[in-house]
Amino acid sequence: MMVREHYSLREWNTFGTEAKARWFAEFSRHSELAGFLREHPGMYRQILVVGGGSNLLFTADYPGLVLHPAMKGMTVEREDGEHAWVRAGAGEVWDDFVSYAVNAGWGGVENLSLIPGCVGAVPVQNIGAYGREAGEVIDSVRGVDLVTGEIWELSGAECWFGYRSSIFKQELAGRFVVTSVVFRLDKHPRLQLTYGELVSLAGYDRLPSLAEVRETVIAVRRKKLPDPAVLGNAGSFFKNPVVEEEWAARMKGLWPQMPLYPAVEGHAKLSAGWLIDQCGWKGFRRGDAGVHEHHALVLVNHGHATGREIFDLSQEIRFSVKEKFGIDLEREVQAVGRMD
Ligand code: EPU
Repeated sequence: MMVREHYSLREWNTFGTEAKARWFAEFSRHSELAGFLREHPGMYRQILVVGGGSNLLFTADYPGLVLHPAMKGMTVEREDGEHAWVRAGAGEVWDDFVSYAVNAGWGGVENLSLIPGCVGAVPVQNIGAYGREAGEVIDSVRGVDLVTGEIWELSGAECWFGYRSSIFKQELAGRFVVTSVVFRLDKHPRLQLTYGELVSLAGYDRLPSLAEVRETVIAVRRKKLPDPAVLGNAGSFFKNPVVEEEWAARMKGLWPQMPLYPAVEGHAKLSAGWLIDQCGWKGFRRGDAGVHEHHALVLVNHGHATGREIFDLSQEIRFSVKEKFGIDLEREVQAVGRMD
């Protein structure tokens, strides 16, 4: 495994901010990583795994090893009349996998079109959009235990998927690197068209094709969300807060326009974008750090903002939402270099 020193991470985070890794390495074979871990016992304490860097904000240089799993490949492991189980390497671009599934006529991931990032980050973050979450179709996850160098295979149930959460962000945080994921795709797709702009597709006199669902999702995302290749960003900066139903009802009484979404029993999901928008942040800009003009949940880098500037802006946003609504927003983006 070739290890580089003092390596710029600008290309490795979609905010496009500058930070340096003390060490940086990519690996595409398990043996390379296992050998490295044997030669550097204790190194696991200082490893940060980076896929496409689409959910990261570097607020300082990273003093340890930034590790990128580069495994490629999409192969059908088995199939029956109902499903196809496809293994995708952690280094594959997520949207290439969605395109592959849709072209094959296999359902389950079409609503997750155009989400930036690599396959390896998909189970960690349990990415979701338009009423679907990746965890619903993840059959198993393979990866390397950074402490022992062993290969592990976890079933979907063992991943403890929740809203933008999994065992990889909890008990296994900092200890596990995903190398490939098996998705269980549906040969007789059950479309999920109940969310937002997809509802209009459900009004067709025939069921839309997977390709039509994908095209609609892509069009909606392009309209609302900035392309990281053009304007640095990491999608939703905060999670949508989940609160007790009673509290949600009380808030709805005060702010009847407030959107509410279903959540786990006895709870409701609020819209962080709406809360931030109500505090007047949409389109705000200080220097090159800002809030997207079409979506208040998306923080942006207009060019030369530092990670620190974006982080400080995010803290101001949190304070104002706390002051107005009494809600503590939780970051979805992982801020690296800060302990709070
Ligand atoms: N809204 C506003 N003002 C804004 C932004 C949104 O009032 O500035 C309102 C919208 O009008 C809508 C509601 O807030 O009523 C929700 O907005 P939207 O449909 O855009 O979805 P979201 O809840 O903000 C979530 C995910 C997105 C995902 C979309 C679509 C989270 C944290 N974010 O956003 O995921 O694409 O739903 O399913 O759950 C991501 O995780 O990076 C991401 C982009």
